[in-house]
Amino acid sequence: MTLLASNYIRKQIVLGTLSLLSFLTSAYGQTTLSTPALEQKVDSVIQLMNLKEKIGQLVLYNGSWDVTGPPSDVGNQEKYDKLKNGEVGAMLNVTSVKETRAAQELVMKNSRLKIPLLFGYDVIHGYKTMFPIPLAESASWDMEAIQKGASHAAAEASASGINWTFAPMVDIARDARWGRIMEGAGEDPYLGARIAEARVKGFQGEDMSDPRTIASCAKHFAAYGFAEAGRDYNTVSISDSDLYNIVLPPFKAAAEAGAATFMSSFNDLNGIPATGNKKLQRDILKENWDWKGFVVSDWASTAEMIPHGYSKDLKQAAEQALNAGNDMDMEGRAFEKHLEELVSANAVNIADIDDAVKRVLRVKFLLGLFDDPYKYCDKKREKQESYSEENLVASEEMARKSVVLLKNEKNLLPIDKNIKTIAVIGPLANDKDSPLGSWRALAESNSAVSLLEGVKSKAPKNMKIIYEEGVALGEGERSFIREMKFNTTDKSGIPKAVEVAKKADLVILALGEEAFQSGEGRSQANIKLKGFQEELAHAVLDANPKTVVLLMNGRPLDITEINKKAFAVVEGWLLGSRAGNALADVLFGNYNPSGKLPVSFPRSVGQVPIYYNHKNTGRPSNDQEMVFWSHYTDEENAPLYPFGHGLSYTTFDYSNFSLSAEKMSASGSILAKVTVKNTGKYKGKEVVQLYTRDHFGSYVRPVKELKGFELIELEPGQSKEVTFTIDTKMLQFYTPNNKWEAEPGTFTAFVGGSSDTKFQKDFELTN
Ligand code: NOJ
Repeated sequence: MTLLASNYIRKQIVLGTLSLLSFLTSAYGQTTLSTPALEQKVDSVIQLMNLKEKIGQLVLYNGSWDVTGPPSDVGNQEKYDKLKNGEVGAMLNVTSVKETRAAQELVMKNSRLKIPLLFGYDVIHGYKTMFPIPLAESASWDMEAIQKGASHAAAEASASGINWTFAPMVDIARDARWGRIMEGAGEDPYLGARIAEARVKGFQGEDMSDPRTIASCAKHFAAYGFAEAGRDYNTVSISDSDLYNIVLPPFKAAAEAGAATFMSSFNDLNGIPATGNKKLQRDILKENWDWKGFVVSDWASTAEMIPHGYSKDLKQAAEQALNAGNDMDMEGRAFEKHLEELVSANAVNIADIDDAVKRVLRVKFLLGLFDDPYKYCDKKREKQESYSEENLVASEEMARKSVVLLKNEKNLLPIDKNIKTIAVIGPLANDKDSPLGSWRALAESNSAVSLLEGVKSKAPKNMKIIYEEGVALGEGERSFIREMKFNTTDKSGIPKAVEVAKKADLVILALGEEAFQSGEGRSQANIKLKGFQEELAHAVLDANPKTVVLLMNGRPLDITEINKKAFAVVEGWLLGSRAGNALADVLFGNYNPSGKLPVSFPRSVGQVPIYYNHKNTGRPSNDQEMVFWSHYTDEENAPLYPFGHGLSYTTFDYSNFSLSAEKMSASGSILAKVTVKNTGKYKGKEVVQLYTRDHFGSYVRPVKELKGFELIELEPGQSKEVTFTIDTKMLQFYTPNNKWEAEPGTFTAFVGGSSDTKFQKDFELTN
């Protein structure tokens, strides 16, 4: 029977391969998750499966032991046996050709139906070669580059046996306290949607059966980024308006781009844990969006419905999760333990189990695993791809594009190449580890090019580079397991740093966060610089005003006081394997910075959540003497740096903003045109941004919403006319009618190089 079944499956595949291939990609180069030919293959497999095997496909195990041999402890022994019995559909955290082959062999050699495993891993911004953290990449507003970054990560991971990444994280985040803000695309649903699309296409390529691509996973579905008070895993309460208009667009874009899988989130949404949330998973994702991939739970988020207070026990958790549309259980043990009895008791419908299994099988077929379960196990390719120069160069290019020049007065930047002495100071200056970030997959510790190394290698030969750490950021282990203790005792290095600063013609002061300060489980109630960094900064800035503050961090920080004193501030994020080279290229002007903030930088933690697309409130005005308007009595409302902000070494002038008409009908469109001129000395890139405001609506509308952008490059003196088409679709929002609609009325269009642009024109949408 075993042989018969596997031969049958193989025969089906051979017959189907040609017809399948022509269906697997749509006209737009996106993965299509369901075609008649594919469904035929999936049906041919599922009809051979018994209930145990079906449930097995819905189980995702962590490979917490060396899978090349039987594990020593009981829990893992049980997993090992289940793999042999075909009762596991996928594994995570099993990496390398050697390990993935060994695990795949357990299934292929021992199980009855020989249905290959998926191997999932958190390839968030690279596998070994680290690209900039996702928030940093998002600052590039360069979709082609972001897509390319994901495709390099996919190539490197897939060469090591991985065929499924738990990325992209497409959670909109408005709260700098939330550690996972670093993992996403920032605060805006439109930018977030474009980036979600780019990353899905980058990971999956045009054809997921290409061995250099991997299946993607849009996560965390949904609203995880709205964790109350910015505390990770916390409860989420948001309106339907925010859910549909702000949270869901990037997920929808990911689904439309063909994301093969989704991951449910840890949080409860308005009282129902996302993993047991039917409205999200069955109604919106599977029914309304007609999406055909599978939803995996987050780590044990099925079982966590018990402490949430939603499921009384693991059995009910399994029932609620499966019935709500969660297809695969990641380490929750709920499905494997209880689905069988739940089916017998008619508490779970076999049709729903079948649907879940089909979704998993589809992805396995699309990856080509039935053709060759070992297709990602190529030792030669593993060697070639790992830290290949091609991957490293791509990461460096991406890193340059991600840098945001926040402030540049007194022409401190780009660095004058005739300068004699530069002091590089700060706890992050010579740090070869932090630029790798916390989601570093298999990157080797301390493998990044530090800022100091980059500056030394890019500085002109006769320029002297001196270095002082100033203050240490902290001590202790940098990992997920423990939290680093920040330095609150030793500031003895500050006088030395001041001395060095005084000797230098220019100082580069590297401040920020260490690698594991942001990321999962790394929420902070305070977003100021930790340790004695602020004290160091003031001492150095007082000693030498020609100090460039270079930030390396995973979240927006409160740098308000430093910003008052510093003439130049550069946002250098955590830029990956070749961070130092990229930063030095920007500082020396080999690359003209073009990044724009994907997230607002607050003045203080008390302003968060802060975001440009806020609502106006009934009391927005400050032109009154009374206190009764929406404000703080001790802080401004505006952020320190707004969404979309970012300078260049050149300057851009916006002129001739015109709308082709003042009125637009529901079927019509208006062309918004603006001329952008490079009025400075350097060739440079600019992200031309279009925003609209809908002045009144059946739900109150934000003061501005990003609707389009174009990344252009201009030579000094060169101009370009940029055109955006405003149509009804662009003006739609999710209304109280539970539909996407554009409501007639007055609108304003804004164009400019930041969300705080005042360059505007009104128009009307008529009936
Ligand atoms: C928990 C995280 O929330 C999720 O994003 C990740 O993919 C899984 N752990 C697996 O590592």
